[in-house]
Amino acid sequence: MDAEQSRRGLFITFEGGEGAGKSTQVGLLEQALRQRGVDVLVTREPGGSPGAEAVRHVLLSGAAEPLGAEMEAILFAAARSDHVETVIRPALESGITVLCDRFIDSTRVYQGATGKVAAELLAGLERLACEECWPDLTIILDIDPAEGLRRAGRRGGGADPDRFERESMTQQRKRRQAYLDIAASEPGRCRVVDAAGAAQDVHRQILELVVERLGSAGLLDSRPARARA
Ligand code: TYD
Repeated sequence: MDAEQSRRGLFITFEGGEGAGKSTQVGLLEQALRQRGVDVLVTREPGGSPGAEAVRHVLLSGAAEPLGAEMEAILFAAARSDHVETVIRPALESGITVLCDRFIDSTRVYQGATGKVAAELLAGLERLACEECWPDLTIILDIDPAEGLRRAGRRGGGADPDRFERESMTQQRKRRQAYLDIAASEPGRCRVVDAAGAAQDVHRQILELVVERLGSAGLLDSRPARARA
């Protein structure tokens, strides 16, 4: 295997509260990277693999809520382990850049900061579920929770909020702060992007960050588009 073939793809995760625009931004980034000749896989959590999608339903319907936040955290980790082993790791190893809508920081924030699950338990679950498969870059989309929930409400077209969207504004504010705290403690991995602006403006900021990382990882084809075709 030559150096080109053995190059691992970049693992990029998107995080943020409800209605921050993660899926819109993942879609815009996917398109922009494909235009630059980058091989991309888009996925999400909870879910992303058949096994994990089955657990997703249990978690988001609220069926696991009576078990308590610790057991929910264990279920999120079980889903993540399947997702990492069957989808994310194989893609990265074959040189594909992975864009994942939510990952470990969602558990740290939703189950840890606001679910009160002990950090040691979460750290152990992280090691079990994603050993040697840590994000290279985490984009934290930061938005005032009141605006985020307004957007999430509009997007849902009147659909019922999921188990986590139903929680109070105080919880949503704690989550926003918890994401900012993670970003401050891991500045090499995390970048906070103000998500309040127009989608295209937010996209431009994200693309700049990602292009820089891909460039330093040697994953950008510098030839013009017509030469790549
Ligand atoms: P989803 O419908 O994917 O919505 P969005 O990402 O657009 O908010 O819902 C995922 C929900 O699951 C979201 O409310 C956050 C929650 N969640 C956790 O509590 N812990 C986790 O580890 C993950 C991945 C998600």
